[in-house]
Amino acid sequence: MIGILRNTTTIFSSIRHNRTRLEAFKAFRKFTVAIDGPAASGKSTVASMLASRLGFMYLDSGSIYRCATLLAIQNNMKDFEEAKTVEKLVEKILGTKIDMVTEKGDGEGLRRTRVFMDGVDVSSELRGNEINKLVSLVAKFGEVRDAVFVKQRELSKGSEVGGLVMDGRDIGTRVFPDAEVKIFMEAKATCRALRRYNEMTTKGMDVDKTTNKQITFDQILDEIIRRDHQDQTRKHSPLKKASDAIPIDTSDMSIQQVVTTIEQIVKSKLKSL
Ligand code: CDP
Repeated sequence: MIGILRNTTTIFSSIRHNRTRLEAFKAFRKFTVAIDGPAASGKSTVASMLASRLGFMYLDSGSIYRCATLLAIQNNMKDFEEAKTVEKLVEKILGTKIDMVTEKGDGEGLRRTRVFMDGVDVSSELRGNEINKLVSLVAKFGEVRDAVFVKQRELSKGSEVGGLVMDGRDIGTRVFPDAEVKIFMEAKATCRALRRYNEMTTKGMDVDKTTNKQITFDQILDEIIRRDHQDQTRKHSPLKKASDAIPIDTSDMSIQQVVTTIEQIVKSKLKSL
């Protein structure tokens, strides 16, 4: 009750001070932007910049699947044919404290999101090649998805007042089916592979730690095609466009263009509410 009164007071005072509708909304209630799409379609970069511009919280759901995969690797749980493996992994996921901290941005630039597991910063490890290879396999199990769902909900609590931008594969279809804005980002596989290749070489992450060899563009392309297939054909919450999601093909668009396009969609939705 006190919360409702406080929120109502906030929205009235927002209107009194002639603030924008977006600012009033941020203080008043949750507004969710769900961004889904295949690997390396640019979701994380766009979602983070969009959240920064709107002053919303940002959550990267893929990172939680990556944490689940890191837990499987750390605990030597790779034999997924063995029924107990998934059960044990679920226990590990639920028993691990996952935190995400996004740097404060200036409203324009890309902010880094750091991911912590039980207080340890695992951000770089999560983007490594071993996890890239294994993550879609781990993410296909319904039990793992349910455990990640619990974590997603826990992490999104911080946005109950204000807005949230979450990106992934099933945000508009399963996690937030009532999201106010749903976007489905697509891009040609070769464009996505080139983006991921450039990202990995820039960050010095282009060496396969298991073979100690340079990772080639073709390997990244194969990996993306394989992951797309696995994500689209799995039984539980496969990657697909929600019927009410707006598709954006980013193949020939800059990041700024994509962010601005979605920002306009969010603002016109806010006006219509
Ligand atoms: O950054 P990138 O698009 O390569 O991947 P990500 O968003 O970090 O997600 C890694 C993997 O987690 C995906 O390939 C999916 O297998 C899985 N995932 C999922 O199943 N559902 C989500 N909501 C997010 C990720």
